[in-house]
Amino acid sequence: MVSRARACANIALVKYWGKRDEVLNLPAKGSLSMTLDALSTTTSVEILSEGVATDQLILDGREDSGKKLQRVVRFLDLVRATAGSKARARVVSANDFPTAAGLASSASAFAALAVAASNAYGLALDPRALSILARRGSGSAARSIFGGFVRMHAGTRADGTDAYAEPISGAKLELGAVIAVARATEKKIGSTEGMERTRQTSPYHAAWLDQVDRDLEGAEEALAAGDIERLAEIAEGSCLAMHADALAARPGIVYFGTPTLWAIEVVRSLRAQGTPVFFTIDAGPHLVAFAPPAHLEAIARALAAHPEIDRTPISRVGAGASLG
Ligand code: DP6
Repeated sequence: MVSRARACANIALVKYWGKRDEVLNLPAKGSLSMTLDALSTTTSVEILSEGVATDQLILDGREDSGKKLQRVVRFLDLVRATAGSKARARVVSANDFPTAAGLASSASAFAALAVAASNAYGLALDPRALSILARRGSGSAARSIFGGFVRMHAGTRADGTDAYAEPISGAKLELGAVIAVARATEKKIGSTEGMERTRQTSPYHAAWLDQVDRDLEGAEEALAAGDIERLAEIAEGSCLAMHADALAARPGIVYFGTPTLWAIEVVRSLRAQGTPVFFTIDAGPHLVAFAPPAHLEAIARALAAHPEIDRTPISRVGAGASLG
């Protein structure tokens, strides 16, 4: 049986940076994101016959036998344990954007894999259970199960049953995004390693964690009130505080690339001239600018002017992960 699922990436407006449990992949704090339809992963999972001894991963047309396969095998082991199956699987996954460059590929990847694999192994999981399962693959993947604006809960239970995402209803802001894709480089320090080093060594980490709850509350209020200025202040603050925390780790982690500071300036000068736009940056050099849909084309043109920004795709808000 083959099950196929598509999931969109999401970009956090209030960032997740730090875990309370590494084994169950429990975040230390909640986070808040928007799902983006222009960045998606499509994954099919085929259950193999009994004689086959290993799982297979074909990623963007190439067979993988390294770390990515190991991460997929560990994830499938969780699904098999729940389903009471020993059968191996062939996973074929394709992204419509460069992987591992800080473009949230693990979010769409593990959300799509959670939906496709649970279906292939015959598990009937509701969206909350899918979010909990996707979290085991990658924390941000828990949010990609849902569309629109999404809130991730850190939870307090040791077993992680209250660490899931859910959609935010009643948001009065319609936003899209421009992704300023900086010249492709495989990122050097993945989020998992980056946030763990930060937790262990950054003198700013306690202050970072202390701020997140206030930002979550403020961002939800700003969304409910349709207040883009307040959301801009919170989202840029959360992004820059996360990067400050990582920069202060030992050795310091610098995710910004050559065009990143330039792109921040572009967004801020557009805003000073009256465009309602704000930025965020994940664990890589790409800047994501959020604005109401009518402004996206002009923002994309402005951000495309840097020689080391290769593309400026525009994204509308994305839907939740689904089969098919
Ligand atoms: C900077 O979800 O990739 O994008 O749970 O270890 O897989 P793991 O981390 P991951 O971290 C995302 C970090 C971030 C901020 C965010 O998406 O909230």
